[in-house]
Amino acid sequence: MIDEPLIQDLRQGVAVITGATGTLGRELAAELARLHFDLVLMGRDPHALGQLAEWLRDQGARTATSLAWNLADSTGLADAVRQTAGERPISLLAHCAGADHGSSDATSLQRDLSINLHAPALLADMALQDMQKTRSGQIILLSSNMALLGEARGSGYSRGKAGLERVARTMISDNREPDIHVLVVVPGLIDSPLFRAGLARRPAWQRHFLKPRQTAAALARCIVEEGLGRSGLMVMDPRHRVVRWMAGILPR
Ligand SMILES: NC(=O)c1ccc[n+]([C@@H]2O[C@H](COP(=O)([O-])OP(=O)(O)OC[C@H]3O[C@@H](n4cnc5c(N)ncnc54)[C@H](OP(=O)(O)O)[C@@H]3O)[C@@H](O)[C@H]2O)c1
Repeated sequence: MIDEPLIQDLRQGVAVITGATGTLGRELAAELARLHFDLVLMGRDPHALGQLAEWLRDQGARTATSLAWNLADSTGLADAVRQTAGERPISLLAHCAGADHGSSDATSLQRDLSINLHAPALLADMALQDMQKTRSGQIILLSSNMALLGEARGSGYSRGKAGLERVARTMISDNREPDIHVLVVVPGLIDSPLFRAGLARRPAWQRHFLKPRQTAAALARCIVEEGLGRSGLMVMDPRHRVVRWMAGILPR
């Protein structure tokens, strides 16, 4: 159920969404548009962002402004977001971008660590500073079971997601404001370019149970209805909750 007082509170500032042109990001942006948020949409393709912004205004967004940015480079990122937000505080950050190039050479590793860890950590710090001034807000960081399972070669995806979960954990334990929430979402499997590329590169995955069960739209709806106003870890696929639980008790 939508928590109306909470939504009203979150609408005091802007909602920044990374990966807004992606599968889950787009659906989450649409949910927030229907709740009449002011949106800052991030992705890499200015044309796709422009079209998305127009569609989201039709869906009900109060405003929808786009910022084309490659998260592999964080230089100037905070200033660009600040400028796009137009001095309004960030009241909601949803980090939905993700990159998994799957190679472990130094360049790939650094690029994926930037996209999956350094850039979102910088944005989360920035959002938290705004939220501490207004004493309310919601940070949503998309993670993955790869944060837990890792890979022998140690990709920037699994390491980045693992790091991001620790960043969130620290934010949660340091936070003293009851109306600031930091949520890590492990979304389960959804059919998307990122999912398909990961599957193609890892033949072993194809033999297991790795079939998307939910649509991105259903997951986005669930994040808005059950995730807003919450801090901690939200593991959306019950099978993955078992994996998380087992990883906590099994020696490595
Ligand atoms: N799909 C799954 O089964 C699954 C499972 C676990 C976790 N997740 C997580 O869920 C989130 C959403 O993933 P998805 O399935 O919706 O994937 P997706 O449709 O492939 O979207 C990925 C998004 O990341 C953005 N992105 C990639 N590299 C970027 C870069 N260098 N700079 C800026 N943006 C970049 C893409 O931007 P462009 O639109 O510009 O390409 C795109 O919007 C990700 O954080 C992912 O790790 C997904």
